[in-house]
Amino acid sequence: MDKVRIGSVGLGRLGLQHAENIANRVMNAELTALCDVDEAKLNETADKLGVKYRFTDFDEMAGCEELDAICIVSPSFLHTAQIEKALSCGKHVFSEKPLGTTVDECKQAEKAVEAYPDQVFMLGFMRRFDESYMYAHQKVVNGDIGKPVMFRSYSQDPEKFIDGAIAFAGHSGGQFLDMAVHDIDLARWFLGTEPKTVYAIGGCYAHEEFAQYNDGDNVSCLMKFDNDEMVFLFAGRTAPHGYNVETEIIGTKGILRIASVPYKNLVEVLDTNGVRRECSENFLERFESSYINEMQEFVYCILEERKPEVTVYDGTRVSEIAYTCKEAFETGELLRF
Ligand SMILES: NC(=O)c1ccc[n+]([C@@H]2O[C@H](COP(=O)([O-])OP(=O)(O)OC[C@H]3O[C@@H](n4cnc5c(N)ncnc54)[C@H](O)[C@@H]3O)[C@@H](O)[C@H]2O)c1
Repeated sequence: MDKVRIGSVGLGRLGLQHAENIANRVMNAELTALCDVDEAKLNETADKLGVKYRFTDFDEMAGCEELDAICIVSPSFLHTAQIEKALSCGKHVFSEKPLGTTVDECKQAEKAVEAYPDQVFMLGFMRRFDESYMYAHQKVVNGDIGKPVMFRSYSQDPEKFIDGAIAFAGHSGGQFLDMAVHDIDLARWFLGTEPKTVYAIGGCYAHEEFAQYNDGDNVSCLMKFDNDEMVFLFAGRTAPHGYNVETEIIGTKGILRIASVPYKNLVEVLDTNGVRRECSENFLERFESSYINEMQEFVYCILEERKPEVTVYDGTRVSEIAYTCKEAFETGELLRF
């Protein structure tokens, strides 16, 4: 095989980007099929990208014999069942995070992956494929900053996207699962250890709508990891300035900061507002190359018959941690893992 034929499900905000990447930017890949329940969107995208097969039913796409792999970018509550179905049809699977919307679902996904050991399964923790995060990670692995002491990571969505976040809140699993999963994944990846305790706080500072889901519009947690590393995570939905993802790792011999100011690019604007730099607007812009890099890795794993570094167990562990953070937030207690 020199080309991986991929069928992708879900053509929403991120699904469209993955489809375009597979069709135009990922080497040795072909976007052979698309699936979405929204037929108009399906046809428009399939026409634009020149896709051979189109489906409104996922199970039918999973059974298509001309596909080697499936990319899952559907709503989170569908992931587990679609992972199981695609694997059982002999396909390699790339799934967006989260692995499932409950820990039980994640365990179900683990069983499915274990049942098909010759097929590649990869989860979309794309920040591990961002050039700056990869560069910083290598420095930590090299021991350049000594022993890690503190890991701090923020994920903030712009206030202008709040209506979508509220509409999605009922089935997102909450801010810790929906937003902080990437920060939790990074903390484990950078530190190479696991959390021991967590305390979480936050609230509905601007949008009471999240309270009905026992959630806040801005939440945070403080965790102690295995080697007593301090981990502080913050997830917020009301950033006035744009999309802000920043991370800091403080070590005994050095400090690394990644995007501590979320510049859009290197341009300085001098106008009636003074002198300023503009901000990243959304995850698609900030992590544009990460989405291409992770899909490229998925395709190379299939062609080279190797397994991705991100495993199904990472997906479960991150979900378990996110839910424990949520429980800590709801109870106000210091919880042990
Ligand atoms: N890794 C990241 O940075 C990142 C960023 C955003 C979203 N996500 C994840 O990606 C997934 C999709 O998010 P989104 O924001 O693109 O969602 P979205 O709501 O914008 O799009 C979902 C799409 O799935 C389609 N759909 C719904 N039910 C379907 C079904 N039964 N069969 C086929 N298609 C169906 C919808 O019509 C829609 O086009 C979510 O799980 C989310 O958590 C990850």
